[in-house]
Amino acid sequence: MPRILTGLQPTGLLHIGNYFGAIEPMVSLQAEGNENFLFIVDYHAITVPQDPKKLREHMLFAAAVYLAAGIDPARTTLFQQSRVPAHTELAWILDCHAYMGEMERMTQFKDKAKGKGESVSVGLFVYPILMAADILLYDIAAVPVGVDQKQHVELARDLAERFNRLYGQTFTVPEPKIRARGARVMGLDDPLKKMSKSASSPKNYISLLDDEETIRKKIMSAVTDAGTTIAYDEARPGLANLLTIFSLVTQRDVASVEADYAGKGYADFKRGLAEAVIAFLRPIQTKIREYQKDEIELKRILDTGALRASELAEQKMKVVRERIGVTL
Ligand code: ADP
Ligand code: TRP
Repeated sequence: MPRILTGLQPTGLLHIGNYFGAIEPMVSLQAEGNENFLFIVDYHAITVPQDPKKLREHMLFAAAVYLAAGIDPARTTLFQQSRVPAHTELAWILDCHAYMGEMERMTQFKDKAKGKGESVSVGLFVYPILMAADILLYDIAAVPVGVDQKQHVELARDLAERFNRLYGQTFTVPEPKIRARGARVMGLDDPLKKMSKSASSPKNYISLLDDEETIRKKIMSAVTDAGTTIAYDEARPGLANLLTIFSLVTQRDVASVEADYAGKGYADFKRGLAEAVIAFLRPIQTKIREYQKDEIELKRILDTGALRASELAEQKMKVVRERIGVTL
């Protein structure tokens, strides 16, 4: 059975870009009968300063979101990264096999470090190596991510191949699995950049927890262009993004949404979109709140996941330690 894995940072805010780019693909892959791993990357989160109390809350929130989205702990190993120390152990070994040159080419680091001068953490620089360890520990065939993470999965491939060449076949070489639709939901206030929780304004994104009024306001104020027809056109990125979101939340193709709005203007279209987003999020929000109320159950699910992940990770680490010559 092919193994699939993805990780998400435990931030207090998850938006519909995260949902369609990363969470929902894991739910669909689960239905296809793969062996799934989904984990909360707390050790990635601390590459930038975190408030410890909030981090803990965000972790439980993340678990509640995955379960609400349809992740079934019986079919997906759901766990917390820091509970499996093999992740950081393997990351150290891979650190010693990664090159400064290739790390300096990581575009996400360049973006995140911009303007921070000398006070950027070393962790932020080596974070893609920890991500490679996350993947390589479990012989993962495919890693569903948004396009922004493709370069990091490619680094994991390079490190796996390098290690295998040096020490003999040890790691499965993973493939990034980028969704055609939904892989890049763009910002509502700037459709040329991806929707991101670190955007300067909350008008950029729709959070999974936004209330109805907020959703309406954000969509009505979304940037569009001077055109009048509701028709998908890459030269009109604002509208193209809204049509994509419409299609994602209603699971209809873009053409059928366009047909509904033939002869109508932006205001009608945006009103329709806001209601579609609200209808899509309502049941998810109800479930998130239900899971959030039962912290004991959330922790039990994460404990079970950590146990299973640890067993597999330890098997792999045994081989790795032997291969590099530290086992006596
Ligand atoms: P953010 O940029 O909001 O901080 P993260 O970097 O934490 O998001 O990404 C978490 C996951 O969600 C990753 O798999 C990423 O590729 C995916 N993702 C993030 N933003 C988007 C987006 N706008 N569209 C599609 N997928 C996204
Ligand atoms: N770096 C990813 C992000 O910020 C999260 C992540 C960590 C991840 N480890 C992973 C994703 C392993 C896929 C596989 O979005």
